[in-house]
Amino acid sequence: MPNYPVQCAYDKMVGVRDLMPHPKNPNRHPKSQIELLAKVIKRHGWRAPITISKLSGFMVRGHARHLAAELLKCTKVPADFQEYASEEEELEDLMADNQVQELSFLDNEQTAENLRFLKGFEGFDPEFSGFSTDDFESFISPEPKQEQKIIYTNEEIAKQALRWFRKNGFPYKKVAIHVAMQKINRLANLPDSACLYSTLGYSEADTFHPHRFEATTEKHFSPLEAFNDDRKLKNAIAFMLKHNSLVPDAYFSMLGRSLNSAEAYNFRPAVAMMLYRKYASPGETVLDTSMGYGGRLIGYIASGLNGLYIGIDPCSKTYAGNMKLAKHLCFEKHIELYKQPAEDISTKSLKGRCNFAFTSPPYFAKEHYSDEKTQSDIRYKTAEEWREKFLAKMLALQYEALTPGCLSVVNIKDIKIGSKMFPLVQWTINGAKKIGFKLKKIEQLMLPTPNLTGLAKDQKKEGRTEPLLFFEK
Ligand SMILES: C[S@@+](CC[C@H](N)C(=O)[O-])C[C@H]1O[C@@H](n2cnc3c(N)ncnc32)[C@H](O)[C@@H]1O
Repeated sequence: MPNYPVQCAYDKMVGVRDLMPHPKNPNRHPKSQIELLAKVIKRHGWRAPITISKLSGFMVRGHARHLAAELLKCTKVPADFQEYASEEEELEDLMADNQVQELSFLDNEQTAENLRFLKGFEGFDPEFSGFSTDDFESFISPEPKQEQKIIYTNEEIAKQALRWFRKNGFPYKKVAIHVAMQKINRLANLPDSACLYSTLGYSEADTFHPHRFEATTEKHFSPLEAFNDDRKLKNAIAFMLKHNSLVPDAYFSMLGRSLNSAEAYNFRPAVAMMLYRKYASPGETVLDTSMGYGGRLIGYIASGLNGLYIGIDPCSKTYAGNMKLAKHLCFEKHIELYKQPAEDISTKSLKGRCNFAFTSPPYFAKEHYSDEKTQSDIRYKTAEEWREKFLAKMLALQYEALTPGCLSVVNIKDIKIGSKMFPLVQWTINGAKKIGFKLKKIEQLMLPTPNLTGLAKDQKKEGRTEPLLFFEK
């Protein structure tokens, strides 16, 4: 029975069969509406719970969502149980919920602009936004005789946009600490089912790691390099204008499309939090032998385990970024960070101290994070040398650091550099087994939708999942 990710706050998951439609609900729902809503839920998951009255036990809000859940053959839906002082209050709210929505209307210009923007993305389907194909066509095709009013030409806008970008610099993510704290609270309340798809916490990590946009991926430009090149930036602005999107809001979503640039990967905090919640207990110590851009550290903070996060990374900016992240988010007492290559850390210093290890190491030379000599892709010239002197040693450190029976999860994938394939997954499995680890399982991790994160075209082709290898000591 399919159930879709829950992206909203709710009190309890309730069986669809147990829901009781309100007997006085006057709203009728045509089949076409329910089919459209079902498609939206299938695509976006649950973004609003069904409201159930604690007074009567009847549904007050969400009758259409209930019917869509039945159509989708869902077994459970998120529900919110609310107090109503009286039967009248309950009925008033039910009526108001239907009626007040009816009073809004669509701004045609903005709707058309949004739809034209979405149309530019691969795999776009108007129904994901709740529009039938006919409605969609009538919105985006201009009235036959009505001329589009143009006060400012795209050339004028582009000129100003370039000037604005040059004056204000790269549009780094800058989340205020109080907002980051609120986001972490939201993250902490995400149910596991929503964690696999959520990108919550990403911008918060980026706030402390602006240098992520300087890292390069194989033959692509870093986002910053592409930004600093006038010709590329002009192309990007032209692309945004062509797709009728506001500059610079769309900057990150079109990075890979028009700049031939790609962002270095950061691990999604929600996925990390889910794994920490599942495989570590409150107060325990976790180890991250290549901590990267703070995705896992944010995930650990949000897990609420409040033990110790031991993080290792030789990149000076990354180390400083994570120190700052922990300081600003009042987590200093729960970190022990090392600005060193993992293979240089003495196994003695960590022996038997950790209860869970979880990392995403560099994928040999696929991404280039910094020019420091301690980076594994600079230190080791050949993949064989990297395998022996970095990968094997990093696994050995994890093995020594873990207490018996504990797990290590490694996020790694096979890569292709130029025309050469490197079987990093098999190398990791072989290396881990040689040390004494047992391979327990391999899970495939869904990657975020490339369109929205600006991954380059050939990265999209490489597929949307990456393995997580689970080893037991
Ligand atoms: C960004 S993360 C994960 C990247 C991800 N696995 C990928 O390639 O898509 C990789 C981190 O490994 C760090 N790193 C590089 N050399 C290392 C070493 N010798 N020991 C530990 N970490 C290292 C980098 O500084 C970087 O922060």
